[in-house]
Amino acid sequence: MSGGWAQVYDALAPTYDEMTTGNGWSANRRARGLLAPLGLVPARVLDLGAGTGQTAVMLHELFPAAALTLVDPSPGMLERARAMMSDAGVSGAEVVAADAASFLRADDRQWDLVAAIGFLELVPDLFEVLGLAATRLAPGGHLVVSHEPLLDDGSVQAAPVSVVSGDQRVRRHPREDVERGAASYGLERVASDDGVAFERSEGGGPAVNELVVWRAAVDR
Ligand SMILES: C[S@@+](CC[C@H](N)C(=O)[O-])C[C@H]1O[C@@H](n2cnc3c(N)ncnc32)[C@H](O)[C@@H]1O
Repeated sequence: MSGGWAQVYDALAPTYDEMTTGNGWSANRRARGLLAPLGLVPARVLDLGAGTGQTAVMLHELFPAAALTLVDPSPGMLERARAMMSDAGVSGAEVVAADAASFLRADDRQWDLVAAIGFLELVPDLFEVLGLAATRLAPGGHLVVSHEPLLDDGSVQAAPVSVVSGDQRVRRHPREDVERGAASYGLERVASDDGVAFERSEGGGPAVNELVVWRAAVDR
């Protein structure tokens, strides 16, 4: 279930890339900065919450030989992603309309790299998605994510749940809980970065995201 976010992003799709240019969306640039020094050569890359393809383009630029699968519950965002893939010269990318948890439950392929950028605060259960993604990593595979950690700063980000509208919620967890969850799924942290992901609209202040790369054990 995408918790109603698919319709929100369908409506946002035509202006999403312009909006993220304007609000300084930094997660993909920062994910690239974490992944590049690791020297990975992934053959199969899964991009969950792919949106209009910004994450997938970054992954293709880093790993041009990798086969890419893009997953997102918003058909409008995926339509844009297909166009962005074509403009970027990415051929043969697989595009699947599904929410992350449903896809990971139904598809038992293994991936050398899984990306979950920009949506873990939107899902009903971040830990479910992390746990499922961990089970789909090939031995020694990597998971790169962003999430909006719960802060103790009196800002909007100090609330564990923000109601956006209807059944759309933004959910936040302490960094330590996310790390504890990842460790319990057999993941080892290899890189991370904390910083402003974007400026919220209407004076909502900076949205802080933690970017993390975890590695699955080789002998799992
Ligand atoms: C902020 S955008 C991020 C898109 C892209 N990764 C980027 O960095 O530009 C969030 C995306 O997550 C998708 N999304 C919402 N709920 C989701 C879920 N449960 N599973 C997977 N994707 C979801 C939305 O449709 C939207 O395309």
